[in-house]
Amino acid sequence: MTEIDRIDAAVAAIQAAAPGFRPLLGIVLGSGLDACAEAITDPVDISYADIPGFPKPAVDSHAGRLRLGSLGGVPVAMLRGRAHAYEGHPMADVVRPVRTLVRLGCNAVVLTNAAGSLREEVGPGRLMAIADHINWSGQNPLTGPNLDALGARFIDMTTAYDPGLRGHLAAAAEGIGLDLAEGVYFWYPGPSFETPAEIRAFRTLGADAVGMSTVPECIALRHMGVKVAGISTITNLAAGMGAGAALDHADVMTTGAGMAMDLARLLTAFAGIAADDL
Ligand code: HPA
Repeated sequence: MTEIDRIDAAVAAIQAAAPGFRPLLGIVLGSGLDACAEAITDPVDISYADIPGFPKPAVDSHAGRLRLGSLGGVPVAMLRGRAHAYEGHPMADVVRPVRTLVRLGCNAVVLTNAAGSLREEVGPGRLMAIADHINWSGQNPLTGPNLDALGARFIDMTTAYDPGLRGHLAAAAEGIGLDLAEGVYFWYPGPSFETPAEIRAFRTLGADAVGMSTVPECIALRHMGVKVAGISTITNLAAGMGAGAALDHADVMTTGAGMAMDLARLLTAFAGIAADDL
C-alpha cells in the first residue's frame, strides 16, 4: 500500500461515516484544548480508531476523534488530538491526518498548540498568531521519495503561515476584544522540555514561543498548496524564565484548558470572516 492509498482509505472511511459532507476548513486542536470542539454545531464524531491509518494519540488530554460540523457558518473538520513525533510515530503517520483533511476538501487549515513563551510580556493565558516558524529539529515530513500526487519536491516556505489568514485572525481577535500576540514558533521535538540555555539560544535565533508540534503539519500542508494559519496558546513562560519554576505537563494542561473558550471564540469569529476565502 502506498502512502496515497493510506490517505485515500482514511478519506473513504470518513466519507462513509458522513456521506456528502465536504469540509472547507480544517482545525487541529493542541494539548489541553479539546473543549474547543463544543463550538461546533451539528457535530458528527468519528473515532480515530475507526479511520484506517490514523495514529492513536497517546497524550491523555487528546480525545482522538475527528469532529465534523459547522463553525461560524463554515463546514469544518476538527482533529481533536494529534500524534507527536516524540511518541515514536513515523513522520508520515504524524502528518497523515492533515493530509486526509485536504483530500476531503479543506483548502485551509488552522493548527493550534500549547506553547511556552520566550517573551516575558506575552505570558500564560495569551494567544499568539504564528507568523513564521523555525525548524532546527533535523526532521522533515517530506524526507524520502516525493509524493508527486500531493505536491512538488521543493516547496517555498516564504509565506508558510498565510498572511491573508493571519489578517483574518487579527480582525477576528479585534472583533471579540481579544489581545492576540504574533510571533515566531520554534519546534522543539521533545519530549523533554528545553533547558534554560536552549531557551536563551532560541531567543537569540528569533523565537517567540516554543512547542513540540505544528511544524511537521505546516510543512505537509504547504506541500499540498493549502493555506495554513497557526495559533499558540501560551501555557507557561519557557524554561529558566519567570520565577524559575519547574515546567510541568499537568500545569500546561490546566492552563490550556482555561484558554480553550478564548480559542473557541477566536476560531468561530475567524471562520465567519475567512469564509469568503475558503
Ligand atoms: N516547551 C515545549 N513545549 C511546550 C511548552 C514549553 O515550554 N509549553 C507547552 N508546550
